[in-house]
Parts: sequence; structure tokens; C-alpha cells
Amino acid sequence: MALIELTDVVKTFPGPHGTTKIAVDGVSLSVERGDCLGVIGESGSGKSTLGRLLLRLYDVDSGSVVLDGQDISRLSKREMRRHRRHWQIVFQEPFASLNPRLTIGQIVEEPLIVAGDYGNRAARRERVIATLAEVGLPPEFLDRRPANLSGGQQQRVGIARALVTDPSIIVLDEPTASLDLTIRASVLRVLNRLREARGLTYVFISHDIETVRHFCSDVVVMHQGRFVEGGPALEVLDAPREEYTRNLMGAAMPPIPYQGRAADPDALDSVSGAS
Ligand SMILES: Nc1ncnc2c1ncn2[C@@H]1O[C@H](COP(=O)(O)OP(=O)(O)OP(=O)(O)O)[C@@H](O)[C@H]1O
Ligand SMILES: [Mg+2]
Repeated sequence: MALIELTDVVKTFPGPHGTTKIAVDGVSLSVERGDCLGVIGESGSGKSTLGRLLLRLYDVDSGSVVLDGQDISRLSKREMRRHRRHWQIVFQEPFASLNPRLTIGQIVEEPLIVAGDYGNRAARRERVIATLAEVGLPPEFLDRRPANLSGGQQQRVGIARALVTDPSIIVLDEPTASLDLTIRASVLRVLNRLREARGLTYVFISHDIETVRHFCSDVVVMHQGRFVEGGPALEVLDAPREEYTRNLMGAAMPPIPYQGRAADPDALDSVSGAS
């Protein structure tokens, strides 16, 4: 069975004057363990809503979300809390998603405290230090606060926070959109290395089609809450069947010559030209 299995998922929000806005309109997908699913589509097409439904940060109106064999809409609050450690998210705006009053050490430790059973304070601290090292931040960062970090460093903290409980699935909601091009490439390299080293499964929401092409094994294209097409990333993006996808790609930056798959860690360099 696939690690992520969505069936006929619908999510509406209350709109103005008693109307309802259908944000996700009956989508189904499956993602195998270790894969990276790219989610592209214009602004407002439902990408972030989908990402949140996937981790039950929103409840579905109807349909089912099955992660690792568990129908998560049936889990109680307590069970969900116990499982949360396996399913994490990284947000677009690193600074907005980090509590400015906490130190980096406290921010990365928090999911361990919420999940419980990660040992005593010393054991948790050790785990936090090891996780920060994995995203390229030395222990000096432990006592600093988010405001004193660069955007790229802040996003590394966001990634460490998602990673610290050793999850199997990470939803990345435009994790590099707020970063400069060169910083973007280095954060993508960190994410790619982690995916390979830990066998992580990613759902990678992005506006940047070239990055999805390099980074993701598969892609779905969203429009008004639905999937217009999907499949292996190279197949879909090299020969899109739908005009909507072609337009989306036409609106993006001109393609950069393709030099390798995500399995090649240096392939991402070609996205930004950074070395
Ligand atoms: N909490 C909410 N309350 C009301 N409407 C919402 C809410 N979240 C999303 N929507 C609406 O649902 C639709 C899908 O929004 P969503 O944020 O999922 O789009 P998106 O594809 O992530 O867009 P972007 O690329 O701009 O981030 C939009 O029309 C949005 O206005
Ligand atoms: Mg969004």
C-alpha cells in the first residue's frame, strides 16, 4: 500500500454572503514511500489546503486521508498527537512560522516535548544538536533567536523542527519561495540529502516548475481545487497534455537545460547557477 493515499477529498470554506468556497474539490492521489510528489498550480488553486488536509491541520468535509495505513480522519485528538511526529510540515515563511520569543534550541525541542517519550532534557538537547547539525547549523545557534538569523538559516531551523521527531512524511509548502536564489539552492540541497539519507517521503508544493522538475519524482497540477493532470514529473512537465499546464509553464521562467535527476545532488546547482 502507498504511504499516502487520498480518496475523493473535499474541503470547503465559508465564503462571503453565506456562500461556500470549494478549496479542494474531490481529489485522489497516492504517494509511494521515498517518493517526492510535486504540487503545482496557480495561486488559489488549493495547494496549501491540500497540504494541510494531508496532515489533518484541516479536517476534510468528505473523503479519506490514509497515511501509512491509518485513516487519519478517524483518529482521536490523542491518537493524532501520538502520530503527529511521523507527519510534519515546513512552511513558506520561515520567520512567521517560528515563535520569536523562543530560542532556536527551544523551537526545535518543542515537537519532542509534544510527542513525549524522547527521554530527559539532556537526551532531547542532544537530539536537537544532532538535528541542527544535519541541516548545517552548529550548536552556537541553540541560544539564538529567529530574528538574529538570515532567511536561509531560519528555514533550516524550520526544517530541523520538522525533522527532529524522525518523521516519515514531510509536507513542504513552498519552503524556498521567500529565499534568494543562491540560498534557495542550498536549502534544496539540504532537503534532497535528507530525503535520500532518511528515505523521507515529500509532498513539495511549489510555484517553481524547474525546481519541481529536478526535485520531484511525480507531479500533480492543480486548478480550482482539482487535479488537471499528474504523473511522473519529467513526463508531465516535458510533454504536458493539458493547456492549463502549458500556460502555467509558459508563465514560469524559461527552462534551464536539464542536467540530471534529483538523485544527483549537484543537479540542483543548475537551478540557480550556484556552486
Ligand atoms: N482558511 C481559509 N478560509 C477561507 N478560505 C480559504 C482558507 N484557506 C484557503 N482558502 C481559499 O481556498 C482557496 C485555495 O487556497 P490555497 O491557499 O489552498 O491556495 P494555494 O494554491 O496554496 O495558493 P497560493 O499559491 O497563493 O499559496 C482560495 O480560494 C482561498 O482563498
Ligand atoms: Mg499556498
